[in-house]
Amino acid sequence: MNLAATVAVAFWAMLPAYVPNNAAVLAGGGRPIDGGRTLGGRRVLGDGKTWRGTLVGTLAGVALAVALNAVEPAASDALGVALPEFPPAAMVALAFGAMLGDILASFLKRRTGRERGAAFPLVDQLDFVVVSLTLAALAAPAWFGDTFTLDVLLAVLVLTPVLHVATNVAAYLLGLKNEPY
Ligand code: CTP
Ligand code: MG
Repeated sequence: MNLAATVAVAFWAMLPAYVPNNAAVLAGGGRPIDGGRTLGGRRVLGDGKTWRGTLVGTLAGVALAVALNAVEPAASDALGVALPEFPPAAMVALAFGAMLGDILASFLKRRTGRERGAAFPLVDQLDFVVVSLTLAALAAPAWFGDTFTLDVLLAVLVLTPVLHVATNVAAYLLGLKNEPY
């Protein structure tokens, strides 16, 4: 595959993991997952991780994967690239994995004394990638192996932080998010 095709496959395959956190920002609020509980004097997760945000985020990622499957043949044709189709297990793994990665990162942030909304460079940008890819590899191993070849994985690792920073700065400028990260 050439570079453009590799980047196209990486972007397409990760879209169901990219959307959940943004959907959670729009839909978040309500009861925090940790129910206000603390651990060692600090919140377990904090008010930024809610049931509603997690549920809506996961559903948004799965819905997007369903939509991508519907347009995949046309998109592959138009680009001249064999884009991947998502099996149901991969849809759920990518979408829920993205939310879980973000939740685990908040757990780490609180344990390291970072308040809600504090930046945690690299963890903020890659938490959801690591966990969504891990869950996808476990839930749909054959699909994962076919789709995330070494070059595609490398493209994901380079592309994701760039996209993450760009979308969060945009959400901040639009007044949707309190911090630009
Ligand atoms: N959100 C949510 N549920 C989630 C993830 C996010 O409701 N599982 C919503 C919350 O309203 C949150 C906003 O999206 O404030 C921004 O998400 P994020 O930046 O991940 O959370 P922070 O508020 O910055 O908290 P933390 O420091 O724990 O990351
Ligand atoms: Mg934040």
